[in-house]
Amino acid sequence: MTRLVVVGGGRMGNALVGGLLRSGWVEPGDITIAEQLEGARDDLAGRFPGVVITSAPVVADSAVIAVKPSDAESAVREVAKLRVPRVLSIMAGVKVAKLESWLPAGTAVLRAMPNLPAVLGSAASALAGGDSVTESDFAWAEAVLSSFGVVARVSENALDAVTGLSGSGPAYLFLLAEAMIEAGVAQGLDRGVSRLLVTNTVLGSARLLAETGDTPEVLRAAITSPGGTTAAGLGVLERRAFRSAVIDAVAAAAARSRELGDD
Ligand SMILES: NC(=O)c1ccc[n+]([C@@H]2O[C@H](COP(=O)([O-])OP(=O)(O)OC[C@H]3O[C@@H](n4cnc5c(N)ncnc54)[C@H](OP(=O)(O)O)[C@@H]3O)[C@@H](O)[C@H]2O)c1
Repeated sequence: MTRLVVVGGGRMGNALVGGLLRSGWVEPGDITIAEQLEGARDDLAGRFPGVVITSAPVVADSAVIAVKPSDAESAVREVAKLRVPRVLSIMAGVKVAKLESWLPAGTAVLRAMPNLPAVLGSAASALAGGDSVTESDFAWAEAVLSSFGVVARVSENALDAVTGLSGSGPAYLFLLAEAMIEAGVAQGLDRGVSRLLVTNTVLGSARLLAETGDTPEVLRAAITSPGGTTAAGLGVLERRAFRSAVIDAVAAAAARSRELGDD
């Protein structure tokens, strides 16, 4: 029997299966991807040799639901008919209680919020579980999600905050990068040069944060001497309320996530 059925072979489904295969945690033959679109099925078959590709979900030990939220109910009801005992949803805004209402009583239901860098194996995901979830279900979901990045366990009501922070977070950093590239051009740099420098400034800074274990405050202090160039730049950002703009942005995104979840 298939160990894992991934329902939805879109961007996130692809990222997940790619991560699982790279991690060696499952053999290709243990995974089935259910994808409605015929053209997409052909692409998946070419990309993941040995993985079973079907048009509809199949019986399995566990399922990951990676379809658009608008397709949530039909996809989950198909899985419900197959009585898959453990279901992990990565759909934004679809609550555990809603998923449980579509599934047989006692199904272990977990919900995660990954983010776009999942496509590179660098996701930041948060995971929450319903009442029927055991420690072994959590461990399983953490293993699945960690194949494409890091995972933090949270309570379900924290997932809106997670959505506003790490879910939307890549877009905040892209906006910062856009602004920095324009700033470089405004200072007379060639656009290509500015883009190269900014891209690797973001990448290198992220690596320093992740790999040194130092806090952002410590790293920032290390390149900010009193009266120096960085201090001059940071002074403008502080005076223009950069910090509170970021705090308000995350709050607005979290509030919007709450609203969408209530619809
Ligand atoms: N992309 C992100 O950065 C991100 C981050 C966090 C969470 N998420 C969540 O992850 C989920 C997937 O996002 P995505 O970007 O991967 O979406 P996507 O690229 O649109 O992929 C969804 C795929 O599932 C297929 N599908 C829909 N219903 C199906 C069914 N009943 N059986 C089999 N396949 C079905 C769709 O096919 P059709 O084209 O035929 O509909 C599509 O190929 C969403 O709920 C999103 O909220 C995404």
